[in-house]
Amino acid sequence: MAKRRTILITGGAGFIGSHVVRRFVRMYPDYHIINLDKLTYAGNLENLKDVEKEPNYQFVHGDICDLEMLRGLFADEGVDGVIHLAAESHVDRSIRDPFVFAQTNVLGTLALLQAAREYWENSESNFPRRFHHVSTDEVYGALQPGEAAFCETTRYNPHSPYSASKASSDHFVRAYHDTYGLPVVITNCSNNYGPYQFPEKLIPLCIHNICEGNPLPVYGKGENIRDWLHVEDHAAAIDEVFHRGKDGESYNIGGINEWKNIDVVKLLVRITDELLGRPVGTSDALITFVKDRAGHDLRYAIDAEKLRTELGWEPSHTFESGLRETVQWYLTHEEWVQHVTSGAYESYYASMYDSSKK
Ligand code: NAD
Ligand code: DAU
Repeated sequence: MAKRRTILITGGAGFIGSHVVRRFVRMYPDYHIINLDKLTYAGNLENLKDVEKEPNYQFVHGDICDLEMLRGLFADEGVDGVIHLAAESHVDRSIRDPFVFAQTNVLGTLALLQAAREYWENSESNFPRRFHHVSTDEVYGALQPGEAAFCETTRYNPHSPYSASKASSDHFVRAYHDTYGLPVVITNCSNNYGPYQFPEKLIPLCIHNICEGNPLPVYGKGENIRDWLHVEDHAAAIDEVFHRGKDGESYNIGGINEWKNIDVVKLLVRITDELLGRPVGTSDALITFVKDRAGHDLRYAIDAEKLRTELGWEPSHTFESGLRETVQWYLTHEEWVQHVTSGAYESYYASMYDSSKK
């Protein structure tokens, strides 16, 4: 069989990664899509049940920190492109245990860059090479109300161990471009929401707790602001930048959709109660103000003008309808929620792929 363009997607069993894998498997039947994932607590192959049997999809269980394994994978499969999403992604966990964030997000990214560099410098391909690093708006730090949104030239100023590790990985990606000529692109995206998000993050946590009648923990006064984007719009932007972005460039992705946390939680209460058929206001009393997150960034906002003007990308979901669909998805996927909240998926996949469960 003729060689197909082979794309390695890391972290494809996670929230955003599973949407990127699904999109690429369906939209590019001529590509060979490899999903490399360690299956940490955040990785769940149930997220990909609908595409796992497609002939252009392959799952590889492995750790991005394992350079020898990566060297073998690049050579054996003839990897032409990388879309790198594997990471530790939760800010609160990074406050509790920063070291695993440095290990995976910094050293894992470095290992992946090195494997791509070695393989691409020493092999030929008919297909274009590209290393797409998926990063976050948190590298830019925090904005005050009224301050202009982050653009691609905003100075990096990370505050949490998570954002420091992502900023460091971005710098390594740029260094591999500037030093070795690796064909890289970076995207920095705002907060995502949508199906398959692990219920430790604000939106799925609140949906789950409203259903269960548990408290909705709002950090501080709930005045912090995030710029929310539907995960499918993020996947579409990654597709554009991966195929049409310019080497060495970074692109901001965001929804121009800033919300205070307390307003998001109130909206979730209203939508979820309504979809559950409960009287309006039933779950208002669950809202509970708790101790603030240490170093809590006040506001994020993304200026995505470069992506819009250069590549024509626009978000297609509006927040209220996207959120309603998301709540509906969680209500109709009780088994998925039950598996991830009980950890049942971990023991199931651990028995299939014997190592690396933590
Ligand atoms: P997630 O935590 O849901 O998924 C991370 C995935 O990476 C999991 O499948 C996990 O098993 C895998 N993984 C972790 N360590 C690994 C390792 N050492 N080797 C191989 N696989 C490993 O994360 P997410 O929210 O989907 O975020 C994906 C990426 O997008 C991250 O790089 C994150 O920084 C970035 N990002 C996330 C958001 C957001 O709102 N969630 C916004 C902007 C950027
Ligand atoms: O901005 C992009 C980032 O968005 C990504 O890079 C991260 O991977 C992703 O986790 C997300 O980070 P946040 O810290 O913004 O997301 P989280 O859902 O944890 O929190 C959203 C906001 O809600 C934040 O201001 C903290 C607050 N919060 C969060 C939780 C979990 C609460 O008030 N209560 C909570 O229980």
